[in-house]
Amino acid sequence: MERDDSGASRICVTNAKGGTGKTTIAINVAGALNERGRDVLFVDLDPQGNATEGLGLVEEYDSGPPTLFDALTDHSRREVVNDLVVEHPEMDVLPSSIDLLQAEHELTIADLVARSKSDPSLSGAAEALGELAIHVDPAAVTGTHALDALEQTLAAVEREYDYVIVDSPPFYGKLTDTGIFAARNVIVPALTEATSERAIELLIDQIAALEGQVGISVNTVGVVANRVENTGEDRTMLQWLNEVFDGFPVWEVRKRVALQRAFSAGTSLFEYEDSVDMEDVFLEMADELDRQFGYTEVTA
Ligand SMILES: Nc1ncnc2c1ncn2[C@@H]1O[C@H](COP(=O)(O)OP(=O)(O)OP(=O)(O)O)[C@@H](O)[C@H]1O
Ligand SMILES: [Mg+2]
Repeated sequence: MERDDSGASRICVTNAKGGTGKTTIAINVAGALNERGRDVLFVDLDPQGNATEGLGLVEEYDSGPPTLFDALTDHSRREVVNDLVVEHPEMDVLPSSIDLLQAEHELTIADLVARSKSDPSLSGAAEALGELAIHVDPAAVTGTHALDALEQTLAAVEREYDYVIVDSPPFYGKLTDTGIFAARNVIVPALTEATSERAIELLIDQIAALEGQVGISVNTVGVVANRVENTGEDRTMLQWLNEVFDGFPVWEVRKRVALQRAFSAGTSLFEYEDSVDMEDVFLEMADELDRQFGYTEVTA
């Protein structure tokens, strides 16, 4: 039996610090959900396109318009998203593309247009801002902000999914904000090293600022301590993460070369030939997601 309310559960895997394992965790959580019989749409919101290339979609990453960039930044073309979704053995994928590099600029303009339209002292600014944009049409921008670009794009997706997993870029900005805004749920991967403390503190501040700015509430689904080894620094950081995220799941993914090999093979651990111990951790995450999002029975 599936849960009652319709619409996919969306989770953004995010941490502005680079190389913490966002892409690895996102792909393997998606793989575990698929293993559990869930239908998953994987969204690569990172202009670097690591997940897109990793999942074997190099051509899609290099392809010309329309791309995810058009769907996100052109209000009149959200539905092109339906032509962009690609099938992968474990999940459907909404690929990143090289022109997503321009999305920060465009979404910033859209956001400024929204703000200027809702502030009478800035009347006229919207049109001028529109002149600087590639796609953004000031007339099409409504509301007090433009962080709903991904939410609107996902709303235009015709196929139904149980879960949407969003892999986010390694920087704070509009793209990441649109990912968190659309998902309202985050999984935070963090390395068990001292530099992660500051990154986590900044992330918590960033999410709080976003919540205040646009009036949403963001749920922390859980934290993934990633690339864990048996050193004192790892133990100290695990303790710190458990204290900061008291009451939330803190999963431990150990350092395993199989995760890199599976990524190079274009799959999660679950499609990869050799089975490894870390599969259990990702299945636990999938179970916890099913529990938090009210999926009562496994349908696999
Ligand atoms: N648990 C792990 N064990 C071994 N290698 C790992 C593990 N997690 C991630 N890696 C490797 O670490 C590198 C960085 O991981 P990944 O690309 O997932 O991080 P990211 O946060 O998505 O990076 P970016 O910030 O650039 O988007 C990759 O080479 C990946 O294969
Ligand atoms: Mg990444």
